[in-house]
Amino acid sequence: MTVYAKKDQIYEGKAKKLFSTEDPDKTIIEYKDSFTAFNGEKRAEMSGKGRLNNLISSEIFAYLSGRGVPLHFIEKLDDLRQLAVKVNILPLEVVVRNITTGSICKRLGIPEGLKLPRPLIEFYYKDDALGDPLVTEDHALLFGWAADDEIAAIKQITLRVNLLMQELFEPLGIVLVDFKLEFGKDSSGKLLLADEISPDTCRFWDASTGARLDKDRFRKDLGDVLGAYEEIWDRLSGAAGNKGRP
Ligand code: TMP
Ligand code: ASP
Repeated sequence: MTVYAKKDQIYEGKAKKLFSTEDPDKTIIEYKDSFTAFNGEKRAEMSGKGRLNNLISSEIFAYLSGRGVPLHFIEKLDDLRQLAVKVNILPLEVVVRNITTGSICKRLGIPEGLKLPRPLIEFYYKDDALGDPLVTEDHALLFGWAADDEIAAIKQITLRVNLLMQELFEPLGIVLVDFKLEFGKDSSGKLLLADEISPDTCRFWDASTGARLDKDRFRKDLGDVLGAYEEIWDRLSGAAGNKGRP
């Protein structure tokens, strides 16, 4: 196995840092212990958060990769880091909703907890200064954020990921309420699912108690934030048969 040394830091986001490697097409992603919400207005540091999100995200990516989803993820390197294909991230956040909660309820006055007859896909324009506004496919096309065929592929991959994730989480007693995906293009222009999939980017509800097992515990001050992340990792790692966690 090639050993990829961490070189220069090329980017620092709210939850992760990116480093170059000796291979210009590969990057090292390091997960941070930082929590942010409401476009960075609310912040906290919690020791162990980066590790949990890296473990959870790596596990989900490995599962999706084994089922043919095109991904930037290559492998988990250690507790905090992943090796990934270097991509240019499209400036779109792709949200899928199976059950109503969060911003859709606020924006449209829809009641909480409605099970939708089919998954709803929404696009948000990734721009912190504008607060990531909801946009239509036509905005994405006309302003050059994604091409026609890329939007079609994004929707197809997103719906498949939703199904695969439901198949993964349902037997663990976890309801996949909604989640956010990001996509990027590699140096040859191939579209890849990128960023992370973790309790920061998904809403997970316990199927029997309805307990929130995701970043809503931080957003809404529900307490025991890391306990919820640990619970997701416990169930996921148990399912993967690697319970004796590092
Ligand atoms: P929302 O209801 O606040 O729009 O969130 C929908 C989903 O997207 C939820 O699973 C949380 C996730 N999300 C992110 O990953 N990043 C964000 O910046 C926001 C606002 C939501
Ligand atoms: N990701 C956004 C932030 O860090 C918002 C959120 O997840 O609630 O501010």
